[in-house]
Amino acid sequence: MRIAIDGTAASGKGTLSDNLSKELKLPRLDTGLLYRKLAFMYIKSSKFISTQNTIDNSILKSILNDFDLNNLEPDTLKLDLYGNFASRIGKLDFVRKKLKIIQIEFVENMIKKKGGCILDGRDIGTEILPNADFKFYIDAPIEIRAKRRFKQFYSTNKSIELKNILLDLEKRDISDKSRKNSPLTLSEDSILINTEFLNSHQVLKKALYYIKKNK
Ligand code: C5P
Repeated sequence: MRIAIDGTAASGKGTLSDNLSKELKLPRLDTGLLYRKLAFMYIKSSKFISTQNTIDNSILKSILNDFDLNNLEPDTLKLDLYGNFASRIGKLDFVRKKLKIIQIEFVENMIKKKGGCILDGRDIGTEILPNADFKFYIDAPIEIRAKRRFKQFYSTNKSIELKNILLDLEKRDISDKSRKNSPLTLSEDSILINTEFLNSHQVLKKALYYIKKNK
């Protein structure tokens, strides 16, 4: 079984993906971590200044030559610096092409070894797993998502401000939905789940209901 989960930042798609993975005993790949790891490696390797507008494609290409799924460490990669930069490099054709190959390899491997997998990201249902058995699109109003992010980060960083998180999410939504290459879109065959009034258990229940009903 192949399950595709797409959605906006901080919508709860990662939590759903994780919970479904435990419930259905299927491996999960958080594809955002691939983009974040690439952003992390680029920032580390170049004399990166966050306000600079140009990206050195030759540095990115050389990182991609040896790029793989190892060391996708959420604790290091969760910083907004990497999320925002991931969104910038995610617009580049050659980046998406290479990361697509890595994702497809993962899917083929997991189908052989485990009988399926769950991928979450922005273009899973449209580009990576167009023939997925189930496609979910997870969303919530931006104010709700910003408050969730704020709660998540405030315990470790007391200087963060809700208004800056809101601005960041707004920018990321626009960038992810408007890019030419594999934008985030709600496809006709996706099941939309609005998580505004649902806790993670209720979201999981909803998704499992659709899966069991249509199996
Ligand atoms: O999901 P997450 O916030 O970790 O993703 C970081 C960024 O990586 C997204 O804002 C998006 O620009 C990019 N991304 C993407 N396609 C994916 C997953 C993530 O373009 N499948």
